[in-house]
Amino acid sequence: MKIALIGTGYVGLVTGTCLANIGHDIICVDHAEEKVEALNSGKIPIFEPGLAEIVQSAKSSGKLVFTTDLAEAVRSVDLIFIAVGTPQASDGRSDLSQIEAAAKQIAKAANGDKTVVVKSTVPVGTCRRVGRILAKHGNDHDFQITSNPEFLREGNAVADFMKPDRIVIGTQSSCAADKMRAIYQYFDDKDVPVIMTSLETSELIKYSANAFLAAKVAFINEMANLCDATGANVEDLSLGIGLDERIGKAFLKPGPGYGGSCFPKDTLALTILAQEADSPSRIIESVVDSNSNHIRRLGRKIADFCAESWNVDPKLPLIDKRIAILGLAFKANTDDIRSAASTVIAPLLIKQGANVIGFDPEAAEAARNVIDHIETTTDLDEALTGADAVLVLTEWDEIRAIDWAEKKKLLASPVVVDLRNLYDTKEMARLGMQYSSLGRPAETL
Ligand code: UGA
Repeated sequence: MKIALIGTGYVGLVTGTCLANIGHDIICVDHAEEKVEALNSGKIPIFEPGLAEIVQSAKSSGKLVFTTDLAEAVRSVDLIFIAVGTPQASDGRSDLSQIEAAAKQIAKAANGDKTVVVKSTVPVGTCRRVGRILAKHGNDHDFQITSNPEFLREGNAVADFMKPDRIVIGTQSSCAADKMRAIYQYFDDKDVPVIMTSLETSELIKYSANAFLAAKVAFINEMANLCDATGANVEDLSLGIGLDERIGKAFLKPGPGYGGSCFPKDTLALTILAQEADSPSRIIESVVDSNSNHIRRLGRKIADFCAESWNVDPKLPLIDKRIAILGLAFKANTDDIRSAASTVIAPLLIKQGANVIGFDPEAAEAARNVIDHIETTTDLDEALTGADAVLVLTEWDEIRAIDWAEKKKLLASPVVVDLRNLYDTKEMARLGMQYSSLGRPAETL
């Protein structure tokens, strides 16, 4: 099927490319000329494993093209995906201005009836609002509005698209439903459940899924803190509860709090949506609070552990100390630093007088642009050399694989605070490291 897709951010670019990969003819539209030029000349503006290869092959086979000409793209297809950004507005709601602008442009360009599919994550009611904009500006053409949320994880997005847990389609139009089934026909023999539902339910499935996953992360982080306070072990606890199929093992790894472009924004937007619907969600409100308390608490934990390890004044322990942060992206395999722990914790440490050097294989430059007074590098040894303490924030394989017997020699002091639980506590103690992690009792030899 020939499809236009508006927006070439994470979601748009991955969706467009993968749709081309499963046989469709895709026109990706973005108003940013430099981005379209870069994509046309083979440069991918984001780091996403496997994406560059399939963009290249889809382009070579002529199945994927990039353009700034929205009107021409709309006129040449009868189905259009909207995958523009819905960033957090200053009041915590989702800013829908890009969606509304896209809807208006589609309506004005339309030369006949069109199916318009909202891929962006949007609050309940947005698709109907898009429908009204299309009707108002659309010269009496008929627009079948459809919701089709994405469930891709950054860093794993191509694999997630090609092997979805489910496909959710919200529409009132049987004609749009048939077209959507045809788009995803590739998955028919792959046992992928397709949920056909209303616009509102489809929109809310997306928010609920993210909120539930965020709740799992916030829950295990609170349990990790409780393990620290009681001497229990959070790894055994995760396994002990996760093996219960009703709970499930996934998303039970403690860390520095959930970040990224989705969970923080979507949980907050859902609390506002629920309040406005006069049906407040106390659970999600607590999840939001729990996550922000967690990261602040970790800021104190880092300073306290360092003071104790260095045997210095606990009131001002970080002054003039060199701290190496390993991992600046909000998680591994992405260059995204939106709501990353590094963006909260590095400024806290810098404010307390520390000199912070951050290492990240992909996100060093992005972090340098948003964190004042941080030094960054893509060279692990440079970050470790002369460090008084090492703080692990992201679970990159390169960080997980560090041989501390070897790298210890580079450090000014063998202090490691690991907020991803990447290393074996016994081995770290054996190597003479002062090692603190989350919810795991320290080993003493
Ligand atoms: C999330 C959802 O997982 C996707 O299904 C959804 O499509 C996407 O949001 C979106 O709405 O676009 P993403 O934000 O890419 O995907 O990242 P996740 O892998 O879900 O991780 C989110 C955060 O939770 C990260 O900060 C991660 O480090 C943290 N996390 C996750 C943990 O701390 N522990 C875990 O066990 C799992």
